[in-house]
Amino acid sequence: MSETTRYYKGLKCRECGKPYPPEPVHVCEFCFGPLEVEYDYEAIAADLTRERIESRPANMWRYRELLPIDGNVSVGFNVGYTPLIRANRLAERLGIHELWIKNDSVNYPTLSFKDRVVSVALTRAVEFGYDTVACASTGNLANSVAANAAGAGLKSYVFIPSDLEPGKVLGSQIFGTNVVGIEGTYDQVNRLCSEIGGRFPWAFANINMRPYYAEGSKAMGFEIAEQLGWRLPDHVVVPMAGGSLITKIRKSFDELTKLELVKKHPSRIHGAQAENCSPIVTAVKEGTDAFRPVEKPDTIVKSLAIGNPADGFYAIQTINETGGYGENPGDDEVVEGIRLLGEYEGIFSETAGGTVVGAVQRLVESGRIGKDESVVLCVTGHGLKTKEALEGRLPSPPTIRPSLKDFEELISAETK
Ligand SMILES: Cc1ncc(COP(=O)(O)O)c(C=O)c1O
Ligand SMILES: [Zn+2]
Repeated sequence: MSETTRYYKGLKCRECGKPYPPEPVHVCEFCFGPLEVEYDYEAIAADLTRERIESRPANMWRYRELLPIDGNVSVGFNVGYTPLIRANRLAERLGIHELWIKNDSVNYPTLSFKDRVVSVALTRAVEFGYDTVACASTGNLANSVAANAAGAGLKSYVFIPSDLEPGKVLGSQIFGTNVVGIEGTYDQVNRLCSEIGGRFPWAFANINMRPYYAEGSKAMGFEIAEQLGWRLPDHVVVPMAGGSLITKIRKSFDELTKLELVKKHPSRIHGAQAENCSPIVTAVKEGTDAFRPVEKPDTIVKSLAIGNPADGFYAIQTINETGGYGENPGDDEVVEGIRLLGEYEGIFSETAGGTVVGAVQRLVESGRIGKDESVVLCVTGHGLKTKEALEGRLPSPPTIRPSLKDFEELISAETK
């Protein structure tokens, strides 16, 4: 990519507003608030048009002006622009008319939306001169850091709870990374990584690179709007772990509106978590703006099992201010959601996608989503990574001898 103009000004504290230069920092030294990237929207508005975006390659970097890198994309050039599917069969089953699935389970290269955040974080890490990258992860982020680091020739360390699904562990190891399993929860992994970050000069995607990393999630929202024909939907349902993705979907819609790339439209942004680890959803339901951390998450939805979400407060704010709601389906509903995506739309999602479908079912039943309103579901990771969630849930397929007679008997038994 030859466009190297910088369209962002630097970082700014979300709480006290103190400005910071664009360095590898993520916390305000005065009030401990999180730092966020600040853009020069006037400069962007002067250069960025729908036509310009549409003329670019089909990847997330077609929105380059709204992503915080200094020069050329060095990591993850093929990430993004995943399909937005009109899901008519699932819509009918749910009793609504206009349903779309943003299918990030086929994101390149590691089949989850984390490839978006990692391509920004690692491009930035290269710009800062790091040779080693790392992360604390519930699985998908580790896969993506490992793969993108391998592709870019960077050394990597990924830290995960030691009880993750085998597909998520292998899905990092195959890239020649250093996987470190920690006997503890994600929150303990994260705390340890903050300490390691103080000792080792590494770029942690979701710690010291966090302001840049988080901006990558906006691309999912930009694409939803563009693929809907430059329009914002009435509802979006987003899975939440640390709570960053949901806040950035909102930011993406706000930015497109500010830049007049879409017409102003009030999208309700809903959040989904699993029943036994739902600090953000519980706070929304209880009507408080502070959440109670969950000490020991206990759910098959391991990718969303963050008990103390870093962006929990802002996720609650996003949901409340946009008129959205939170839902927290139980494990059985999650499995049903995975099966619905499979059987009605031919999409094999991981547990996070099942959580989103479970949540939308409840939102439709409670009338929070109206039958004639447009709805986008964010499906964020692939089902082959979490096969064990379905263990014992599907019948064993019949086995027959290689004979036509056996098959005819099987069919006639099934049709009786
Ligand atoms: C598949 C999947 N979906 C959604 C999320 C939620 O992301 P966030 O931490 O930005 O809320 C994660 C986070 O790990 C994830 O793995
Ligand atoms: Zn501050």
